[in-house]
Amino acid sequence: MKIISNPKELKEYLKNNDKTIGFVPTMGALHEGHLSLIKEAIAENELVVVSIFVNPTQFLKGEDLDSYPRKDEADKKICSLSGVDILFFPHANDIYGEDEVSVIAPNVRGYVLEGMSRPGHFNGVLTVVMKLLNIVEPTNAYFGKKDAQQLNLITLMVKQLFMSVNIVAVDTARESDGLAMSSRNVYLSKDERVEALKISSSLQIAFGMVTKGILDSDEIIVKMREKLSGLEISYVEILSREFEIIRHVEIGNSVILVEAKVGDTRLLDNIWL
Ligand code: PAJ
Repeated sequence: MKIISNPKELKEYLKNNDKTIGFVPTMGALHEGHLSLIKEAIAENELVVVSIFVNPTQFLKGEDLDSYPRKDEADKKICSLSGVDILFFPHANDIYGEDEVSVIAPNVRGYVLEGMSRPGHFNGVLTVVMKLLNIVEPTNAYFGKKDAQQLNLITLMVKQLFMSVNIVAVDTARESDGLAMSSRNVYLSKDERVEALKISSSLQIAFGMVTKGILDSDEIIVKMREKLSGLEISYVEILSREFEIIRHVEIGNSVILVEAKVGDTRLLDNIWL
């Protein structure tokens, strides 16, 4: 596996390459969720690039940029053992300069849900993803359904800015007890880890109701909130795949999203129905 930190060097390396390129952008502290993206990229492309970059512009003031888990050596090993061809590992000053052009998330979709509790977060996400996609110029880029709003906004950016990359959405990888894997799970104490299970359980309750034919959004949300009691809930929403609020679950076109704080840790999860 080749490790490159300079964007120009990576562009040079990939120039005149006629292989299909699969790209998996990450912020490191790799876990099984990241690995499922990497495995899918390896299965579907001739060359696979993974990036590890803790992107400062998507963290708001007071968020966990400085304490965000960093496991550089372990991450390098994981990538190399899983068959990644190129690991792109830039420093912040390889990616950002001063007085920069940036991507602005849409006024509505970028500022609801996670964008409401983290205003401006998605500007940082879209800007770095745009930069990374322009550096790697992949055929396919892989993103997790776990970060549904991020995936939705990236898909929108690619469409609206007429970019040619194909965005691939990958299912959420979970611990055996149902907790969605996340780099931030390491922040949870033993007790919080148990409390956090209420999030995936609430989604299972929703799934159970829908399979019984209960499709009314309000009815489902009430039951989910009951399960989530004790947690600081940021939102529980039932949306169409286009991210519009819907009053009834439409099978094949719905996503139920939860964001809740367990102790100081904000956790996201969702289910695609
Ligand atoms: P990060 O949180 O490291 O996640 C990298 C990718 O892994 C994202 O596409 C995310 O949705 C996916 N992922 C995380 N947990 C997952 C799980 N349990 N199952 C499946 N996929 C999972 O998301 C980011 O980094 C950043 O915002 C980034 C896109 C890299 C831009 O900085």
